[in-house]
Amino acid sequence: MTTTLTRVPLLIGGQAVQTEAQDSVASPYTGEALYHVARADERHLRQAIASAQAAFAEYRRWPAHRRADALRRASALLAERADLFAHTIASEAGKPLKAARVEVARSVENLGFAADEAAQMAGQGIPLDASRFGEGRLGFTVREPRGLIAAISPFNFPLNLALHKVGPALAGGNTVILKPAPQTPLTANLIGELIVDAGFPAGALNVLHGGAELGAALTSAPEIALVSFTGSPQVGEIIKRGSGLKPVVLELGNNSANLVDADSDVELAARKLAPVSFAYQGQVCIHPQRLIVHADAYDAFREAFLTAARALVVGDPLDEQTDVGPLINPASLTRLQGWIQEALDLGGRLLLGGTPQGNILPPTVLEDVPEEAHLVREEAFGPVVVLSRAASWSEAIAAANRSRYGLQTGVFTRNLGHALEAVRDIEAGGVIVNDPSTFRVDQMPYGGIKDSGFGREGARSSLEELTYVKTVVLS
Ligand code: SIN
Repeated sequence: MTTTLTRVPLLIGGQAVQTEAQDSVASPYTGEALYHVARADERHLRQAIASAQAAFAEYRRWPAHRRADALRRASALLAERADLFAHTIASEAGKPLKAARVEVARSVENLGFAADEAAQMAGQGIPLDASRFGEGRLGFTVREPRGLIAAISPFNFPLNLALHKVGPALAGGNTVILKPAPQTPLTANLIGELIVDAGFPAGALNVLHGGAELGAALTSAPEIALVSFTGSPQVGEIIKRGSGLKPVVLELGNNSANLVDADSDVELAARKLAPVSFAYQGQVCIHPQRLIVHADAYDAFREAFLTAARALVVGDPLDEQTDVGPLINPASLTRLQGWIQEALDLGGRLLLGGTPQGNILPPTVLEDVPEEAHLVREEAFGPVVVLSRAASWSEAIAAANRSRYGLQTGVFTRNLGHALEAVRDIEAGGVIVNDPSTFRVDQMPYGGIKDSGFGREGARSSLEELTYVKTVVLS
């Protein structure tokens, strides 16, 4: 029997566009081909730019209440289609259904936050007469849409991280060309359909599929006003270089440290940290990777953490019980196996996991891994955690900071002074006290320092990036 695979099209100006050139997407779990995907070339890019420009000419005139209403409709439609989105994410990203459902629920809220910000976006008054040269004038600022936004989104949250770009861009009156990760094209097309069905102009959101060549052409196109990218630091650097003088927002990697203090409730810390350390197979920029534990709490924490990690269910992402599923592709598994072996060769000890089952790496925990190992130094982006001891709280903070990354850090302590020390001294875009580094609700400012990138997401922060300030002086 020959099965005809679905062909996932491009979406340009609200229309499905098929192409000669096709890529294919395989299930991360079974390895079977799921569908073919249209591949955009320069001609499709030009069409998408023309469509986004035409939509912008109309859309930038929409009043705030109309933009907010359309975003609220998109949020409501997403809630209605939650099951479709969750199954699509589970199937193409290999994200366990449980986690995919949480992603959809967050995305419903996220569009709601974008709607709220569309309604509230405002400039501010300028007291021009504070200068003797400004007397007799009225000064204020307004926020203007930047224009065409290039949004390049990752596979790990194919819905919510795309919406972190699309929602605020539309809230601010911009139009968008979305290039999703090649592994998760169907979720992106479902977003495109959602936006059309919510009543935005055709061309307000265009979806182009393709690889690095398309990415380079999109980000360097002079018509693009701003590039927003979430992904690896390596690609972020290429995008930054290729974007010329355009503003760029880069959400890049991390090797998140989570600190556990001597006086903390170690049982609670372990119960909170273990599930999120391995949730979505650790393919989350803020997944706890380096667990730095005060020596006095180390043994008790290690025991509690291993017990909680052993309780996680490993298997098929489409099974409602599964906590840990497959890595996105076999290459990720091969890389992680190499890094685990390197850590062991350098003297590390394996406490749990390490042996793959198909494309699944079960929860894997190591200790005594020297800092020069990739598993400590780089972003693992996998279900691997390294435990280490710190002789003091200050030493734990210093170890957390020995990283080229700085996105979010979790600290567990009952000592207020230690909490404040961590908030003051940890080099990261966010410090989360008594919750893991993965804590995120979608309206909070989110973004990194150092090699974790720059710019902030979260509806209000994104809107500040995706609009510009125009100063008005009336004389
Ligand atoms: C990320 O991987 O950067 C996103 C994490 C999240 O939104 O929970």
